[in-house]
Amino acid sequence: MKHLLYFLIPAILLVACGPQERVSKNVFDEVNSSMEAKKLSEAQITQEAMIWGDSISSEAQQQLMANLHKAVEENGYAEALEFCNVNAAPIIKLLSDKNGVSIRRTSTRTRNQDNMPTEEELPILEAYQYNMENGIENEPNIQKIEGGDVLLYNKAIVISSEFCLACHGDPKNDIEIDVLSKIDSLYPRDLARGFKVGDLRGMWSIKLPKKSVVNRL
Ligand code: HEC
Repeated sequence: MKHLLYFLIPAILLVACGPQERVSKNVFDEVNSSMEAKKLSEAQITQEAMIWGDSISSEAQQQLMANLHKAVEENGYAEALEFCNVNAAPIIKLLSDKNGVSIRRTSTRTRNQDNMPTEEELPILEAYQYNMENGIENEPNIQKIEGGDVLLYNKAIVISSEFCLACHGDPKNDIEIDVLSKIDSLYPRDLARGFKVGDLRGMWSIKLPKKSVVNRL
């Protein structure tokens, strides 16, 4: 049995990596030839990824905030909380599909477990946290991932005002009892409480296919 496993593991790895690498090589060649045709440098592509990522994250932020404010004004925080529970992910998904990219919000202290950081995202979040604690300004940045085929745009999300505290602040002083009990029942493993204004809450993480970035230029 052991021998079979030794044999199987490399075989599985080959199957898992083989076709993917081929696709990646095709994408690589295609991106390369269109970069050459357009005489583009890596720096221009990174700059365009930054512009695109800034615009997508602003739009996503604006849409979430507009919907959230409306829900709070109409029905109060407890109802708005349920609104977030049901609608935050679909709003982000719709924008992802519209742009042909993958948009996420992630944090080391998540409310929704689906937003837990990936291996690529965790060190970026940690760097943002370090900067925040040491008075260094956090700028959005671009990381090359998936062998350079994808540009990962990320941007810090900060607890910008007291408004956020109604659902992410100190459970004793900032979050109303009915809101807190809704959080506890919807998110039994919630870590996204106890924040203060100015704290790092998380980040936007947007995967931009390099090919699409090149096509924008
Ligand atoms: C009405 C309550 C409410 C308010 C106000 C609110 N949030 Fe949230 N927030 C939530 C809920 C609920 C979720 C989980 C959404 C989900 O399930 O996808 C969430 C998730 C998040 C996430 C995603 C990461 C995670 O923990 O899952 C970020 C980032 C975030 N909020 C930032 C903010 C910021 C910044 C503000 C203020 C501008 C704010 N929130 C105001 C309820 C709120």
